[in-house]
Amino acid sequence: MLKTVLIVLFCLSAITSLALAAEDSSPDALISLVHQDCGSCHGMTLKGGLGPDIRPGALAHYDIETLSTVVLDGIPETAMPPWRPLLSEADAKRIAEYLLRGDMK
Ligand code: HEC
Repeated sequence: MLKTVLIVLFCLSAITSLALAAEDSSPDALISLVHQDCGSCHGMTLKGGLGPDIRPGALAHYDIETLSTVVLDGIPETAMPPWRPLLSEADAKRIAEYLLRGDMK
């Protein structure tokens, strides 16, 4: 029960700050969104926390299309939420590229 409450709180705080960030999708804004909002579960350095490690080495088996789908749709029946309401497909793709390469154009 406590775990569920914590997960919901994580999601809410992530979604609130993300909704603000989504208005500005400059590379800097997307990178800070990844570290802060995704980082609330995956760790600020993305090495894992409530969610798994999402640094490039851990995601090497993904291609960009699949990875951006995971970001947009989440992983059903897990704590990984869908970001489609808050991110455009283009932004999700840029995040996927960032996760795989470790930098953003
Ligand atoms: C509320 C917590 C939470 C937030 C916020 C969150 N994730 Fe996740 N994420 C998870 C969990 C938990 C999993 C593991 C799901 C499972 O059991 O398969 C996961 C899985 C993933 C995976 C798949 C990892 C793999 O090895 O297959 C990726 C990629 C990912 N998240 C990216 C992101 C990105 C990018 C963001 C920000 C846009 C984000 N996540 C935000 C909780 C979260």
